[in-house]
Amino acid sequence: MSLWRYRDRLPVEPLVTLGEGDTPLIPAPRLSARTGAEVWLKFEGANPTGSFKDRGMTVAVSAAIREGAEAIICASTGNTAASAAAYAARAGLRGAVIVPEGKIATGKLAQALMHGARVVALRGNFDEALRLVRQLVDRHPISLVNSVNEFRIEGQKTAAFEVCDGLVDPPDALCIPVGNAGNITSWHKGFGEYGVAPQLHGFQAEGAAPLVHGAPVAQPETVASAIRIGNPARWEEAMGAITSSRGLIRAVSDAEILDAYRVLASEEGVFCEPASAASVAGLLKYGAEGRVVCVLTGHGLKDPTTALDQARSVIPCEPDLGSVEEAVMG
Ligand code: F0G
Repeated sequence: MSLWRYRDRLPVEPLVTLGEGDTPLIPAPRLSARTGAEVWLKFEGANPTGSFKDRGMTVAVSAAIREGAEAIICASTGNTAASAAAYAARAGLRGAVIVPEGKIATGKLAQALMHGARVVALRGNFDEALRLVRQLVDRHPISLVNSVNEFRIEGQKTAAFEVCDGLVDPPDALCIPVGNAGNITSWHKGFGEYGVAPQLHGFQAEGAAPLVHGAPVAQPETVASAIRIGNPARWEEAMGAITSSRGLIRAVSDAEILDAYRVLASEEGVFCEPASAASVAGLLKYGAEGRVVCVLTGHGLKDPTTALDQARSVIPCEPDLGSVEEAVMG
């Protein structure tokens, strides 16, 4: 099973697919007890390259193939780059990704490089990278696969279909991290097409919260590198989705994000990346009622550096029973 089971709701044929979508919808008993809501986790880290981007990429790259493209490109905080690189490899297209130098998680960089994409480290941030690739594709016949591409939105809307099909009744609210604002736009479209209207609660990192402040942020900063974005491309659509669903856009601090990140891993057994934990950080900070789905956008293995920084240390041990006993039981 993959998201292509919703093929009649998608604008292209699956010309390139890695089996994306159909990700686990996991009940979260500990978070439910803490919040009084019925909390579910939509674990998008279970997609082929470890993030929700694959939903959009299978559709966008299928469309690019149909249009005869030979190369695809994106600006990225890491996950779009990893996904674009994988689908380019699979489709036999050239792939180029532009990422902010030194600001993407190690796993994502490893993925983009292993898939054979040309990885360009920009001495600038994501917003500058996106501005430059948009100019570049005006001059060259390269397909842009950022979420400004409508086909990305089409693919990503299937997550909302899956949630509705996976629950007896649709959720009352959705908690979702917001960066470039493509994903919240996609969920809104998906719920709309399904004929339901949960409240959409978007969460940004405090140091990268342009939608919360109502103005672009020139130098966005957050430990959640995936959402280190100061001027979201889908600003209007995201705000429209939030207001029309009677939801709210709010900020969570890095400390709150990291706390939720640890709670998810250590209490629910679900390891997501820091940006994803912003959805749960928002739920824990602001609360929500009824049936609540938190979107966990990317896998924890994407960013081993932050994980090891946050986790307790390993216990060194000599190879004898007494030492092992003490190390294990002590
Ligand atoms: N969570 C993760 C793990 C992400 O990688 C992103 C975006 C988001 C949330 C926010 O989604 O941008 O649609 O609002 N990552 C993009 C990238 C920007 O380049 O990988 P959004």
